[in-house]
This record gives sequence, structure tokens and C-alpha cells, in this order.
Amino acid sequence: MRMVDLIEKKRNGLELTAEEIHWIITGYTNGTIPDYQMSALAMTIFYQGMTKAEMTELTMAMVESGDQIDLSSIAGIKVDKHSTGGVGDKTTLVLAPLVASVGVPVAKMSGRGLGHTGGTLDKLEAIKGFQIELSEETFIKQVNDLHIAVIGQSGELTPADKKLYALRDVTATVDSIPLIASSIMSKKIAAGSDAICLDVKVGSGAFMKDIESARSLAKAMVDIADHSGRKAAAFLTNMQEPLGFAIGNALEIKEAVATLKGHGPADLTELSLVIGSYMVYFAGHADSVEVARAMLEANIANGKAYEKFEAFVVAQHGDLAMIQNLDLLPGAAYVIAVPAPKAGYIHEIEAIALGHAAMTLGAGRQTKDDTIDYGVGVVLAKKVGDAVAVGEAVAYLHANREDVAKEIETVISGITIQAEPATKLPLIYEIID
Ligand code: URA
Repeated sequence: MRMVDLIEKKRNGLELTAEEIHWIITGYTNGTIPDYQMSALAMTIFYQGMTKAEMTELTMAMVESGDQIDLSSIAGIKVDKHSTGGVGDKTTLVLAPLVASVGVPVAKMSGRGLGHTGGTLDKLEAIKGFQIELSEETFIKQVNDLHIAVIGQSGELTPADKKLYALRDVTATVDSIPLIASSIMSKKIAAGSDAICLDVKVGSGAFMKDIESARSLAKAMVDIADHSGRKAAAFLTNMQEPLGFAIGNALEIKEAVATLKGHGPADLTELSLVIGSYMVYFAGHADSVEVARAMLEANIANGKAYEKFEAFVVAQHGDLAMIQNLDLLPGAAYVIAVPAPKAGYIHEIEAIALGHAAMTLGAGRQTKDDTIDYGVGVVLAKKVGDAVAVGEAVAYLHANREDVAKEIETVISGITIQAEPATKLPLIYEIID
């Protein structure tokens, strides 16, 4: 086979075979296919698209390019969850113990945050002592005994995706639906899941700016799951504002705990119940998503969901006292109000601006090596649809320095206030399964 012929074949709108796609990915991973030819192919895919069969083969070839996590010694159907990236998105912190509390095994690999989005691992590490590195044996045993473990990535998963993603980043080929779908799905499948729930965020601050492209991405990922013998559901969710009120590591732990106890923000609670119901249903613990939802609601009301979070923290060596008394979590020296520049109604809270302010306060990393200040962040005082008076607080900055003029400006720049009442968009636009 010659790469030039395969680029030409794809350029002419023909379908690549499974053998050809596996040959390309193997060659690209081991360096026999150079970046310039792979760039040409990526650009061709950008314009020509890919069939379901091609996307599935590309996904599986990337899965096979590296280590694959074997979860077969964990009893039951393993269901994972993925979000295309949100600010203040602490859904995993709620979902994992909630779903585990009805007996569904949650064997989750999570990531760290970079830039304006936070990572689940950083949030968990706000709890003193919390261990995100477990040996494979301990990880499996913990999931079998407790039904929940959350760790950092172990082994080298999908090196082909890592290399291709870096190339796409510099060749204007990131926003190609088949390439995004196969990139995300390869990582989920390599991590060992049998079924996957995908939260696809839609909005100006999200990867997918409009419903049509979000729907195409969601359908592509569900198709890949289907073709590779796995179950999947995708949820198109609104990013008109951050999820919940809190952005920042310890602040988000507090909000997740409140949600597990039944008094969290309405949007975070609803999203956790909807995605969680599908996870329980896919895992075969309920005959329908409606029955699954009732089970989850019951476990929030009877305290079992929160108790599971406590047990999870103890199992991974976190300081339980910090969960039982949330004031012991890292905090901030100053809490500073961000005043509304005018009166009216809140129309939009741009997640990127809020995430950026939290990051510059120290809640996130600008570069991979930055250290995190777990206690700082932003807490919204208003949500979309709320009325606000001039000078009234729209948010509070939790800071460990007094000079926060820049962050106040950033938060204000991200909040749209208009005279007429705002239309609140639905939290979940569509479910594709
Ligand atoms: N996230 C991924 O993991 N891959 C992409 O291609 C885009 C977003």
C-alpha cells in the first residue's frame, strides 16, 4: 500500500477499507507515515467526511495503537460518561457515587484541567490526602467491593489519537466531526467501557457552537458505539451558563456534596439524574430509564448516594472530616462581590469568561506545570433569567489576593444583562440513543 494512493482515494470521495485505515494508523503511530501525508489525509477527511464504517475502523485502529484497560474482572456492565468540556461541570462528582449507590460499577479514569475548564482529578485532590493513583489490582478490587473508583489515566492509551490530535491542532483540522467522534470514542473504548453516556455541550462557549453540529457529533459517536458493539446515548446540553453556581475545585466539591444530599442546584441535579438514569439502565439495573430515575431519586432522599461519596473518599485516602465539615476544605482569604454594571435581566453567562477568571485566580492551570490553589474560584449569585439591580452582586470571587480588578472585569465581560426578560433555554435539548 502507498499512502499517496489512499489520500487520493479519499480525496476522490471513495470509502477506505478497514485494512487501509488500520495500515494508515499503524504507520502513522510508528513513524513510517510522515506528518505531511497524515495532514493531507486529515484535510481530505475534513472535506469528504467519513462513513460510519470508516469512523468505526478509525476509532478501533486508534484503540489498538496503545494499551487497553481490561475491566473484565469487574462484575457487570461497565458504563462510562464523557463530557465534551464544561465550566463548573462537576457532574462526574455527583454521578459516580449516585450511580454506584444502586450497585452499578463505576470504574472511571478522569483527567486534569487545562485552561478554562476544570478536571475531575483536580477537584478530588482538593480533599486532603485523596489518592488518584491506584494500582490496577486495588482499582479493580475497589470497584468490585464498593462499585466506585476514580483514577488518573494509567498506561499509554490511544497514542495514535494523541499524535493525530496534536497534528490536527496545527493544521486546522480539529473541527471535523468524524475526527472528533473517533478521537473521543477511541479513548472511552480503550478505557474499557461497555456502554457510554456522552454529554455534548452546545453554545458559544462550547466546542459545538450550534445544535446541528452538536447533533451530528452526537450521532457520529452513537453510530461508532453501535458499530463496535457498545451501547451509547448522547445528551445535547445547553451551555448558556455554567452548570450550578460554583467554579473552582473545593467550591465544586461543596456543591457536589449538596447535590448528593438533595439540596444542590436544579440544573446540576437534573443533568445528573438524566444521565445517571441512562447509566443505570444501560448497566441492566433497571428495566427502563424511568425506573432508573426513581431509584436514583430514592437514594438521594434516603442518604445512600451521599454515604457512597463518603465511602469513596475514605477508600481513596481522602480526609473524611473535610466532607463531613465542608468548612475544613481549602478556602479563600477574600470573598469579593462582582457588582452588576446595570439593571435588567441576565441573558447569558459566558462559561469561558467565568472559567478564565477562575483560572487566573489560581483555580486552574495556564500551563501544564502550574500549581492549583484549591480554595479559590467564582460563585455565581445570579443565573440566566434572574433580575438584577445596578450594583447588586452577580457573582463572588473567592480569592487569595486583594487585587482582583482584572477578574472582576473578566466576569462582567462574560455576563449579558438586557432590559427585557430573558428566555431560559432548556437544559437538555435532545437525547440521541
Ligand atoms: N476532544 C477530544 O478528545 N478529541 C477531539 O478531537 C476533540 C475534543
